[in-house]
Amino acid sequence: MKGLTLATQTPALVLGIETTCDETAAAVVERQADGSGRILSNIVYSQNDDHAPFGGVVPEIAARAHIDLLDGLVANAMKEAGLNFNQLTGVAAAAGPGLIGGVIVGLTTAKAIAMVHNTPLIAVNHLEAHALTPRLTCALAFPYCLFLASGGHTQIVAVLGVGQYVRLGTTVDDAMGEAFDKVAKMLGLPYPGGPQVEQAAAEGNPKRFAFPRPMLGRPDANFSLSGLKTAVRNEADRLAPLESQDVADICASFQAAVLESAKDRLGTGLRLFEEKFGPPRALVAAGGVAANQAIRGALQDVAAKAQTTLIVPPPALCTDNGAMIAWAGAERLALGMLDQLDAAPRARWRLDGDETTPDRGVQSRAKF
Ligand code: KG4
Ligand code: ZN
Repeated sequence: MKGLTLATQTPALVLGIETTCDETAAAVVERQADGSGRILSNIVYSQNDDHAPFGGVVPEIAARAHIDLLDGLVANAMKEAGLNFNQLTGVAAAAGPGLIGGVIVGLTTAKAIAMVHNTPLIAVNHLEAHALTPRLTCALAFPYCLFLASGGHTQIVAVLGVGQYVRLGTTVDDAMGEAFDKVAKMLGLPYPGGPQVEQAAAEGNPKRFAFPRPMLGRPDANFSLSGLKTAVRNEADRLAPLESQDVADICASFQAAVLESAKDRLGTGLRLFEEKFGPPRALVAAGGVAANQAIRGALQDVAAKAQTTLIVPPPALCTDNGAMIAWAGAERLALGMLDQLDAAPRARWRLDGDETTPDRGVQSRAKF
């Protein structure tokens, strides 16, 4: 295949495809020989409206939408970048973890492009793409600590190098965004619930309900959110029918509990990081939950306490997108880490390669 030996010395132009959950996305990113990056196009179609009536992601609907949308999105991403397929140095797709139907659509599309245009394929771990994004946006050097909190994932990861990750903490039950979505649903707020809960919380009293602060003080850096969610359900049932002030107070009290738990868990995660790897160059937040202003404030406090800087990539690069896949592909390509056309789509795929403990991953967000 073309360009392999020159990959580290020459700029790379990589097409990235993301289809692991309910965003269909394609982007082209350029990586310079000095390691800096530039986004040439980044197109995301969010299927939120398709899934909203069901209150969660429906895998079958997501997979069919990816099939319908992806070719057009790829064509538009290439057009916006002003490139034809023969000018690409590589084509990357998220090969997991995620809803398998969608993953198959994206990876198969990338394989077809790679085969027809004799271009290297990079099968990217979706979590790795989130982990490497700050190197695209602000050239961050290794090592750093990643807090990834989305609808499908809640993890604290030590990012030591491309392909070198150590998971320091994870949720033992629900993902953080999933908990926001479920609380929203039980309070009658629309999907996706995170922004709705945040908005309602701004009008509420965070002290009205003493919801549990899960995992506080534990020596590991794991999260648990299902007990908190159940406590919210019990309170909502007790008060039903809910007035709008009840909803606001429940949201504010729930968010306060999440914040306190997140602060404690991340404080412990950063301590574990420092013990094992020395001081991190930054605490990086990614995933949809990082859009929450109150969570950002809490992360700022945690980072300051650990004497490190908080980096939150721009919202469009925090949530699922094609540019992060293209960038992770470019980073791997520069190191000669390529994949063959038989690369397998994976529903589950732990970032640290340790498959002994299951990762609930994005499946937990699926409705059916
Ligand atoms: O990263 P993302 O766009 O997609 C994946 O889950 O992969 O994250 C979406 C999740 C949803 O669960 C959504 O409710 C949550 O992020 N979210 C928020 C906020 N905005 C989005 N959670 C809390 N506060 C927010 N402002
Ligand atoms: Zn994601």
